[in-house]
Amino acid sequence: MKNEAEKVFEALGDSGRLTVLTGAGISAESGISTFRDSGGLWDQYEIDDVATPEAYAANPSLVQDFYNMRRAHLGTVQPNAGHRALGRLEELLGDRFTLITQNVDDLHDRAGSRRLLHMHGELYKARCADCGVAVEWRTDISLDDRCESCSGSMRPHIVWFGELPFYLEREIPEACGDSAVFFSIGTSGMVYPANTLVSQVKARGGFCVEINLEKTAGPGVFDLQIEGKAGETLPLLIAELEALL
Ligand code: OAD
Repeated sequence: MKNEAEKVFEALGDSGRLTVLTGAGISAESGISTFRDSGGLWDQYEIDDVATPEAYAANPSLVQDFYNMRRAHLGTVQPNAGHRALGRLEELLGDRFTLITQNVDDLHDRAGSRRLLHMHGELYKARCADCGVAVEWRTDISLDDRCESCSGSMRPHIVWFGELPFYLEREIPEACGDSAVFFSIGTSGMVYPANTLVSQVKARGGFCVEINLEKTAGPGVFDLQIEGKAGETLPLLIAELEALL
């Protein structure tokens, strides 16, 4: 991984910014199912039944049950070496680093990441369906739960299909806009608009790295592709980078 780390270091320079996008693959080694791998969540559930505003309007308890089930499972798993390596990278780079995650689990948080944007929401939060206030929420959400501010009903703090992800107005464009290096880790690149971030960085001359079990795009998109498990490759890459920084 020395050679790969040298390329990243060269692109980063003394003051360059590094932005990371993660997807479900980084949490796979912790025991959380991805969405689109064989046997993944979207093999087991229909998106239209559990992950759209229309599904919630039609059958709110089914949607709540789906996220309550995922919330309960999250309490049984731990961050892995990939999450921890990104925590270390943030310690090394400080405010030159931003981590954007599509994941709604809290494994990056628990591994020490703080410059972290949960663009698709968070399992351990609930949001008022009426006034939009989001609050910490570790237990089941039920249809009887009410917002403390306006008495509206509480829903999962999750971005469903057809809804706008968070942080798109300022934080994500700022992070991607001047990134010298961009890592795309454990994401299939199937979901808009997260899948446009790499091309935004690339268009401004950033050095784009993919870490995944398999290549999701060609060399026209990524300058460097590292095939393997994030929990194995990332600690090696970041240890080599640390030696250079
Ligand atoms: P996907 O399930 O679409 O893709 C997971 C990716 O992780 C695949 O490309 C795998 O090859 C890769 N992968 C699996 N195990 C890995 C490992 N150990 N190390 C590295 N890579 C690994 O998940 P996402 O791309 O995150 O959105 O999906 C994006 C969004 O689609 C999710 O945030 C979710 C979903 O619908 C919403 O719910 C709004």
